[in-house]
Amino acid sequence: MPPKAAIKKQIEDLRDLIRHHEYRYYALDDPEISDREFDKLMRQLQGLEAEHPEFASPDSPTQRVGGQPAEEFSKVRHATPMMSLDNTYSVDELRDFDRRVRELSGREMIEYVGELKLDGLSMSLTYENGVLIHGVTRGDGVVGEEVTGNVKTIRSVPLRIDPKKLKVIGSPSKFEVRGEVLMGRKAFEAVNAQREEAGEARFANPRNSAAGTMRQLDPRIVADRQLDMFLYYLQVKGVEPMPEHARMLEVLAEIGFKVNPHWRLCKSIDAVLGYIGEWEARREELDYEIDGIVIKVNNTRLWQELGATAKSPRWAVAYKYPARQATTRVLDIRAQVGRTGTLTPVADLDPVEVGGVKVSHATLHNMDEISRLGVKIGDSVLIQRAGEVIPQVVKVVKQAADGRAFRMPRKCPVCGSEVQHPEGEVAYRCVNAACPAKLKESLLHFAGRRAMNIDGLGEALVDQLVDKGLVHDPADLYSLTLEQLANLERMGKKSASNLLEEIETSRKTELGRLIFAVGIRFVGERTAQFLADHFGSLDKLATASPEELYQVEEVGPRVGEAILEFFHEPRNLNLLKKLREAGLRFEQKKARKADGKLSGKQFVLTGILVNCSRDEATRMIEEAGGRVTGSVSKNTDYLVAGSEPGSKLQKARSLGVPVLGEEDLSKLLGRSR
Ligand code: IVH
Repeated sequence: MPPKAAIKKQIEDLRDLIRHHEYRYYALDDPEISDREFDKLMRQLQGLEAEHPEFASPDSPTQRVGGQPAEEFSKVRHATPMMSLDNTYSVDELRDFDRRVRELSGREMIEYVGELKLDGLSMSLTYENGVLIHGVTRGDGVVGEEVTGNVKTIRSVPLRIDPKKLKVIGSPSKFEVRGEVLMGRKAFEAVNAQREEAGEARFANPRNSAAGTMRQLDPRIVADRQLDMFLYYLQVKGVEPMPEHARMLEVLAEIGFKVNPHWRLCKSIDAVLGYIGEWEARREELDYEIDGIVIKVNNTRLWQELGATAKSPRWAVAYKYPARQATTRVLDIRAQVGRTGTLTPVADLDPVEVGGVKVSHATLHNMDEISRLGVKIGDSVLIQRAGEVIPQVVKVVKQAADGRAFRMPRKCPVCGSEVQHPEGEVAYRCVNAACPAKLKESLLHFAGRRAMNIDGLGEALVDQLVDKGLVHDPADLYSLTLEQLANLERMGKKSASNLLEEIETSRKTELGRLIFAVGIRFVGERTAQFLADHFGSLDKLATASPEELYQVEEVGPRVGEAILEFFHEPRNLNLLKKLREAGLRFEQKKARKADGKLSGKQFVLTGILVNCSRDEATRMIEEAGGRVTGSVSKNTDYLVAGSEPGSKLQKARSLGVPVLGEEDLSKLLGRSR
């Protein structure tokens, strides 16, 4: 085989392998390889694609996060309207539904499929020749918004369907699938924790958070938010649907989509009632929220016979679970120190049963929330169990005559240190870097998958390591011995030695992740990578002046100050010293060519490019040592404008940033067409 063809095959095989493991991990929750092995494959592919840009492809697993933020979403008309469902709230209403279906269809008994009613937002995906080309929101049911760039970041959504699998549905050139995009509880908590940290308002529930995320114009933000998508509908244009809905769900799964595994074929409405009851009791087991059950007639031939009303089909209905709310009295409010050192006010309640669970505490989130609710100790409140494991206070029902206002303590209830409330922020924090509550959090963050990736270092273990005084900072992890670990609860020799090996491998973690791992406030993964690229060494970062810091993309005064403050703190300097002694990687080879034609130059792309895609243009600029960013600022050296350029062009003009056409860019790159 000629070498070029061999490389092409190697790249394609690697892509298929990664697609397979993405499917195992994200769609089936059943990985076959470790995260580390997966990352290795991904890096191998990234390397090959960078060396051989001629084999780039938009459906490669490396292309989930597109380069550029959208300027706005375009409106798209759905091929067939996306209808909504009628809601029912009682067994009687559900039996009425079954009676109507039986009468209209003239059958005695109807078979149904019960599905969880996922609390997210519905979305339509279109594939052409097996490749995802459109992701469109429901909108008003007739016209939605095209959010393809955002949908592509959802790891459980295949960018491309294996042609062999596509045969199952007759290899159509085009087909549409519909389903629900949602945010799991854990991802939701993480987003809210980040927002609080940044002084932004919390999302009220995972549904709002998922919807808000989908409206983001920058897919890179969406990619960070870990959305998920379950599919429940398949439509091939001009082809009758599968005769049974249950089969449609099976087929969707067979061709590589994530289908919620908890659907059930019910032989009668009584079986449906059993299913509803079962999931009302089990819904807390799920990592995502459901607000009811969807009941669909299994026989899709009947769908046509039954038809639809103006808004909803007559062959399906939603059964909504009752809101899990109750009224009770606030006995006390106290501050709980979270793992980030943030003090969270928690209400102690007169115990009350909500949806079958005894509740005696509810979170009040922060002081802003307390003022918004106007809640005082002694008040009667409405509480609800919703997205979070910890119930929430919805509103005050009756104020107590002698209600007592809550005040944040000035001393940390865990370690007694001073509590700080930085101006302009919502949070109150314990200042003691060594507060056990904070140390535990910093260890979990350090070991996290996106940081040093020390698999197996979870909460239970961290608790023991800190409580037994074996670890005082993340660097201490590198001097743990097999004996120390094997003596911990629930740790055998085998798991202890696995953990040691994980810790050992993490010494080689690249600089960007290490910078993220040490936990500088406001420095997320992306910023950490920019810092690593810019400075190339932890020591240079640690001694950088404010002016040097501000040259780095995404570093403004807030982030800059947090970095300076971090490297000013003797405790952190000691941590760095210990990490260096442990042999961690403090250096990184400069990622960008320092001697490229465009080194040091910052570009912004806008409008439609004719000769190449934006991704290609980005790649060429980066190969020549330049950098491409999302928005025009005074640091921008050139704006490359295609047709229909939009607001970025105006901004560039107002800042006096030179504007290039495509031809000019080609010339700069030294390739005239
Ligand atoms: S079927 C006409 N199945 O509920 C068929 N919808 O009120 C409509 N939803 O807009 C969709 N889980 O966003 C269907 N398993 C499920 C669902 C589901 C959640 C949402 C969907 C829809 C809304 C209808």
